Amino acid sequence: MKRTWWKESVVYQIYPISFKDSNGDGVGDLRGILSKLDYLQDLGVDVVWICPIYQSPGHDNGYDISDYYKIDPAFGTMEDFDELLEGLHARGMKLMMDLVLNHTSDEHPWFLESRKSKDNPKRDYYIWRKGKNGGPPNNWESYFSGSVWEYDERTDEYYLHLYSKHQPDLNWENPAVIRELHDMVKWWLQKGVDGFRFDAIAHIAKAKGLPDADNPQQTPTVRAYELFSNLDDVHTLLQDLYDNVLYYYDIMTVGETSGLGPEEALCYVGDDRRELNMTFQFEHMFLDAASAGSGKWDVVPWKLTDLKEVISRWQTVLHGRGWNANYLCNHDQPRAVSRFGNDQEPYRIPSAKMLATFLHMLEGTPYIYQGEEIGMTNVVFDSIDDYRDVETLNYYEEQRRNGVPEADIMRAIHLKSRDNARTPMQWDAGPQAGFTTAESAWIRVNPNHERINVEEAIRNPDSIYHYYKELIRLRKEHAVIVYGAYELLLPDHPQIYAFTRKLEKSRLLVILNFSSEEPVFEWPVEAMEPEDIELLISNYAPQEHEDLLNLPLRPYEARVYLKRY
Ligand code: NOJ
Repeated sequence: MKRTWWKESVVYQIYPISFKDSNGDGVGDLRGILSKLDYLQDLGVDVVWICPIYQSPGHDNGYDISDYYKIDPAFGTMEDFDELLEGLHARGMKLMMDLVLNHTSDEHPWFLESRKSKDNPKRDYYIWRKGKNGGPPNNWESYFSGSVWEYDERTDEYYLHLYSKHQPDLNWENPAVIRELHDMVKWWLQKGVDGFRFDAIAHIAKAKGLPDADNPQQTPTVRAYELFSNLDDVHTLLQDLYDNVLYYYDIMTVGETSGLGPEEALCYVGDDRRELNMTFQFEHMFLDAASAGSGKWDVVPWKLTDLKEVISRWQTVLHGRGWNANYLCNHDQPRAVSRFGNDQEPYRIPSAKMLATFLHMLEGTPYIYQGEEIGMTNVVFDSIDDYRDVETLNYYEEQRRNGVPEADIMRAIHLKSRDNARTPMQWDAGPQAGFTTAESAWIRVNPNHERINVEEAIRNPDSIYHYYKELIRLRKEHAVIVYGAYELLLPDHPQIYAFTRKLEKSRLLVILNFSSEEPVFEWPVEAMEPEDIELLISNYAPQEHEDLLNLPLRPYEARVYLKRY
């Protein structure tokens, strides 16, 4: 297997609006990030992924870009950006930008022109159609509720938006659009950025003729999915981008591609494909969805056996043929410890460390989302007025219109709102968690910042933060953590997730108790004899007089053993 820097890296994701405010306006900014570069370096991460910072009216916190070549004034200036890039490079870290190529803002000059008249030269930069039978051109539903079509009186036509109506989809069938986007990607690469996370890249091609979806047994949000996701044309377009632009730079790329399994992912990341290095897969993000056809809000408890099945499939199919991007949360998902661990005391700390062990011991590049390294949790705001996310607000409105009781809607929001991940980074126990000096931040801070914050985490040698540091350090020391082949043990065990990793003469045994109970782990002697082994890391001190052959695990205990042959 080819060894490269982006396989050996650990990525840290920053959601800039919520990371650190430097000028007291309640909104995070680039100088705020600059002030925390030493913190990131100390944690040991190699690559920083920054969610969009381009000029934007901010209907979707920057994922609605109105100028790809400018920094939004709320985040700072291009000089601040240059300083940030230099600051990262000077500390041996790299910068990955988040680029939205599927759509722009409805305030982008291309769209302002496009909507003016049917014969405007920019008309075909977007996807316009006439209505059908007095309604929209087809029955597709947007990710953010309602039709994907927005009627525009001026030309008596509809434009397509898979996300909010402020995010019109670009028309990738137009070569002029492709040229503009390629030039822009090149421009950022020439500035020296080290890679891209390509937002919603699975959707840049749509089914020819934009036909109606005809699987009404599924909920509106998922039924048209296959008509605008992972189509063959996406691959042709990405290969074109690769051959014309990406190929010439030593960068890392990751695409956001929901709705696929590992075999299909190989079409994006296969070593021979000339497309992307990694994709973000979503199968484990839907384990708590009530059914394959239901949307994200219909939540049921997830099962460990399902998690093992999904992750093991990705680990084994991609091994030697592609590369995994591993993550447990991001700016669109609930907090990992609240969802896959246990955010109630006394379990928050051990379960966050157990999940961190899981994340770092899988084959693939680990992505840490800001605040995960201190065990930040979901938030419970009682009133919808405290929520800011466009998806959450649209869902709330739609459910109210459908007559769903307020309490039921809020329960789903508490579990699944994207704002769970977007409350400000908790730097200290002071007012506004040290995020801003303003009286209030753009979104309320989680009240638990008095307990859960960076200052406390750095001070306390047993903290989740120090545990992450150690995991990151170990990854740099042992090639088996990066490149070792994965093999699942105990596929049917309801509480224990155990697996081995094997590379040349090294073998790892990873034992994770995903429960608050105390199951006994029977040592798999055939996978690794329990002699001459080294305990690389654990979230508990070993007990005295342990019987490794029948090892009682404590709540959320994690152990990683190394053996050299
Ligand atoms: C995926 C991004 O991660 C999400 O935050 C955004 O709302 C949509 N794409 C639309 O750009």
